[in-house]
Amino acid sequence: MSKVWRFGKVLPDVPSILKGPDWSQADPRWINRALAVTQSRPTGGWYVADGSRAITDKPKRYRIMGKDWVLFRDAHGVIAGQDKCPHMGASLADGHVHDGCVVCPWHALALGRKKRGSWDPLKVHDDGILVWVQLPDPNPTDAPFIAPRPATYFDAVMRMEARCRPSDIVANRLDPWHGAHFHPHSFGTLKIIERTDDDITVRVAYRVVGKLAVEVDARFHSPEPNSIVMTIIGGEGVGSMVETHGSPVDNNHAAVIEATIATSERPGFHTAVKWLGRWIRPAMEARASRLWVEDLAYAERRQQLRDANEADGNSDVIEPD
Ligand code: FES
Ligand SMILES: [Fe+2]
Repeated sequence: MSKVWRFGKVLPDVPSILKGPDWSQADPRWINRALAVTQSRPTGGWYVADGSRAITDKPKRYRIMGKDWVLFRDAHGVIAGQDKCPHMGASLADGHVHDGCVVCPWHALALGRKKRGSWDPLKVHDDGILVWVQLPDPNPTDAPFIAPRPATYFDAVMRMEARCRPSDIVANRLDPWHGAHFHPHSFGTLKIIERTDDDITVRVAYRVVGKLAVEVDARFHSPEPNSIVMTIIGGEGVGSMVETHGSPVDNNHAAVIEATIATSERPGFHTAVKWLGRWIRPAMEARASRLWVEDLAYAERRQQLRDANEADGNSDVIEPD
């Protein structure tokens, strides 16, 4: 466990509920059980496509659940439909937006909020940070399951794809024990202070620069099968969140869309992000992306192990002493 120097709020000492080295605390059976609880929850048919800022008046293609969809924005919000022109099948993502419609690049058929042949726009939910689309589901809901967010915040969103399942992305977050070892540039010490069937609260030292770190208490909770949310409940930035969403691209691939939602009661925070936001946001997105380059390797490894286990029907778990 590497040394860090702490700054910011000093948290009252609390005992760790688990003892021993991180590898013996990181119990794969608890992770698998907690993952199973998250996977039993409903989605309501909703999947995150991307961050709100990424959807503009330039049509963009997203593959979700094995199908290509085109998303674009007009003056009234986001429109989503299948990325296949109902006339002769051109990709609408190669078209342009005019007057609330995507205009097909081949023969200029304009498609908007109205159904036209096989063009049947999806229900869209733009929550101000993320854009969700609703795909056919036996139990559809009016809106996605989203954890409560702070009233005022500054957000940054990143999106990456990998060869894994959305559940591998959630499983990665249900293993906080890997933080200090797999991302030594970002995390120092870790202590588990509370754990239930499906959520976990940790005290973690988060490196800001070099050995300088802030200590926070953070709770991981999953509001729906493809999302896991870390909320800071003690220390600097209480109420800030990191929402991590896995979106199924196809049977073997997933996108991770992660929103960092920062808030603070410190005077000047909101003024600072208002004026410096255009520099802060790319830095936040780059930092989240750096972590996810590593965490997607973790998620992809789970997929590789699953492939191998499917082949030989074998699964290894080393028991702690
Ligand atoms: S293929 Fe789109 S208008 Fe013909
Ligand atoms: Fe990680």
